[in-house]
Amino acid sequence: MTQTARDEHGDVTLLVVDDDAQHAETISESLRRSGYRTLVAGSGKAALEALEGDHVDIVLTDLVMRDVDGMEVLTTARRLHPDIEVVVMTGYASVEGAVEAMKKGASTYLKKPLNIQELRAVVEKVVEKQNLSRSNLYLHQELDRKYGFSGILGNSEPMQKVFTTLQSVAPTSATVLIVGESGTGKELVAKAIHRNSPRRNHHFIPINCTAMPEGLIESELFGHEKGSFTGALGARKGRFEFANHGTLLLDEIGDMPLSTQAKLLRVLEERCVYRVGSNVPIPVDVRLLASTNRHLEELTREGKFREDLYYRLRVVTINLPPLRTRQSDIAILIDHFIREFAQQHGRRIEGITPAARALLLGWRWPGNVRELRNSIEAMVVLARDPILDVKDVPEEIQQRRDGGGAPAGGGVPSMVGMKLEQAEVELIRATLAMVKGNREEAARILGIGERTLYRKLKEYGLGEIGKDGGGAP
Ligand SMILES: Nc1ncnc2c1ncn2[C@@H]1O[C@H](COP(=O)(O)OP(=O)(O)OP(=O)(O)O)[C@@H](O)[C@H]1O
Ligand SMILES: [Mg+2]
Repeated sequence: MTQTARDEHGDVTLLVVDDDAQHAETISESLRRSGYRTLVAGSGKAALEALEGDHVDIVLTDLVMRDVDGMEVLTTARRLHPDIEVVVMTGYASVEGAVEAMKKGASTYLKKPLNIQELRAVVEKVVEKQNLSRSNLYLHQELDRKYGFSGILGNSEPMQKVFTTLQSVAPTSATVLIVGESGTGKELVAKAIHRNSPRRNHHFIPINCTAMPEGLIESELFGHEKGSFTGALGARKGRFEFANHGTLLLDEIGDMPLSTQAKLLRVLEERCVYRVGSNVPIPVDVRLLASTNRHLEELTREGKFREDLYYRLRVVTINLPPLRTRQSDIAILIDHFIREFAQQHGRRIEGITPAARALLLGWRWPGNVRELRNSIEAMVVLARDPILDVKDVPEEIQQRRDGGGAPAGGGVPSMVGMKLEQAEVELIRATLAMVKGNREEAARILGIGERTLYRKLKEYGLGEIGKDGGGAP
């Protein structure tokens, strides 16, 4: 038997769903003998309940069942836990149902009657596939070697620092606080930490503290016992328990209610959770990551965030600066997203004109990388020609209604009719203005050496621009 990354199969939980109880039991038993942890659901409905309440890695489900059928089990499983793998079993000679299931995200299918050998081999393969995609390393290696860390791109100085910190902190179990404006990549960084830690083969569980009222957030985090509040029909595991041996991301922790903060602190100190309505401690081994776009220190001064929790969280802090302050990252990300979306949407896009690129470099990006990513996707999808041009740039960026950055030049068309030398002057002037006079940055964007830029500035009598960091006159 191949050694999977999860050392023992006991770490892998399979849910076997079949309304033929004896069949389900037989399958479950033979998988248990291979060392897997198994759960059995005697109906589609029972399967949905198990998916809500238990930790499940892989689902094996019959397709044709009364009440809730296998297709619904499949779609619910994928919706609740995107990294779950589903294998469908079909009792009918027709493969159509199986094909349909594959389209909806099933990993593979098995024909009934099952051959135990085949069943084990298939499950083994699916476990390996899941391990691979959970660690997801192979995807990013190529890019990272050039400029990035685990899928986070950037060669600006602040991002290089972030990568250095990530390299040393990821493999530990340290709590990390990730701070940055919306869309700067906080969740991406959290995932990278998880992927590069010894916990990578266990769950990464994010929970957003903004969206939830106090009562709900506690039951989500810590779970609840049956009948602990109105509507708590059954006992339920919380995210802490789901994240056992893995990583829990408390997203937007600045929005967590004070009373929940107190309970969280207790969990961190005791390494145990108490389900709502119970005082039985449940030991948990969870690495905690927290992120926020708010100023936690200020919140503590205002009494909205517990100081002791703040000190506990900020031991290692990673600051993700706004994209507009990282010009060289914008450049890399533009090229990366063009390639990504061209491939994803099957479009032949070969590049972007300097004028269009300059517009993007000059924009303020209030939504940071997310906004850039979405803009490029739209450009790629809507483009008519293989080279993206100014006309493909989202209108608000073309018009810089938001104030944009510094003027990024009127684009190539306004230069038509100009002498080449004059156009060069204009381009240099506009580029310097865009980067607020930073000559090093301007030279990089223009694709020339810094010395060449100095020479040209002198030659064209632009010597004063950029000297004091001021923009174009
Ligand atoms: N440095 C980066 N390299 C590549 N992609 C990035 C980078 N930073 C962010 N992204 C992408 O931008 C999008 C937004 O990132 P993410 O969701 O991590 O931001 P966030 O800081 O958590 O935002 P919010 O505060 O709104 O939750 C994602 O699609 C992410 O993959
Ligand atoms: Mg986020």
